[in-house]
Amino acid sequence: MVFAHQSDYILPVLCHRSFFIVFCSGVINMDLLIDIDEVKGFLDPEEGQALYHAANQVMALGPCLEVGSYCGKSTVYLGAACLKSRNTLFAVDHHRGSEEHQLGEAYHDPDLYDSSLGQVDSFSAFRQTMLRAGLEEVVVPVVASSEVVARHWATPLSLVFIDGGHSHQAALTDYQSWSRHIVPGGYLAIHDIFPDPEDGGQAPFEIYQLALASGFFEAQPTIKTLGLLKRI
Ligand SMILES: C[S@@+](CC[C@H](N)C(=O)[O-])C[C@H]1O[C@@H](n2cnc3c(N)ncnc32)[C@H](O)[C@@H]1O
Repeated sequence: MVFAHQSDYILPVLCHRSFFIVFCSGVINMDLLIDIDEVKGFLDPEEGQALYHAANQVMALGPCLEVGSYCGKSTVYLGAACLKSRNTLFAVDHHRGSEEHQLGEAYHDPDLYDSSLGQVDSFSAFRQTMLRAGLEEVVVPVVASSEVVARHWATPLSLVFIDGGHSHQAALTDYQSWSRHIVPGGYLAIHDIFPDPEDGGQAPFEIYQLALASGFFEAQPTIKTLGLLKRI
């Protein structure tokens, strides 16, 4: 399988479950022990590769954290980088789904609905993904709302990936809760950046702009809808 890449500094070549990404600085072998296409989720492979690369770059600076794991697609990419570097990924998700995953909504998946409880439950799918991807010793699932986890969080982070609730309040809470823990040189990654409102919801783009305006982050090349910022 060959991926054409939007970014001019990455040229992915090859195949099956292993991707070799050629950068200006050398070759990175991205080993995923799972067929990523079999994992339910919303991340484009190019975005996943960019997350993997970013996590690899900052591995010495501290653990990584994502908000919004769902069935573990983004977790596989970030976790694979952490596995390689003996780092840790905290994967925060209450596994009750975002607004769009609820019964009757556009992205509802009946396979992830516990009708006895009347609740979305993506946690068992997530655990299966982690097992199949060989990431159980690397990924720490934190099954709670982002806000509650952040309340007592004190560990500096090398990379934060925000892909949780997409309402204005949820995105703002995630940004305010987590961006302050990123160490200088680390990354803030935000999914679903749509500068044109015609293309999608504006909450992730709004927090991306807030981060830029804060003066603490500088923009990196955007990969499809993945906004990437470096903590100065
Ligand atoms: C768009 S999905 C994440 C997709 C995932 N990153 C992927 O690669 O497929 C959003 C996830 O965020 C979770 N979520 C939404 N609001 C949350 C909150 N306040 N705290 C924790 N998780 C939340 C939902 O349960 C859902 O699983």
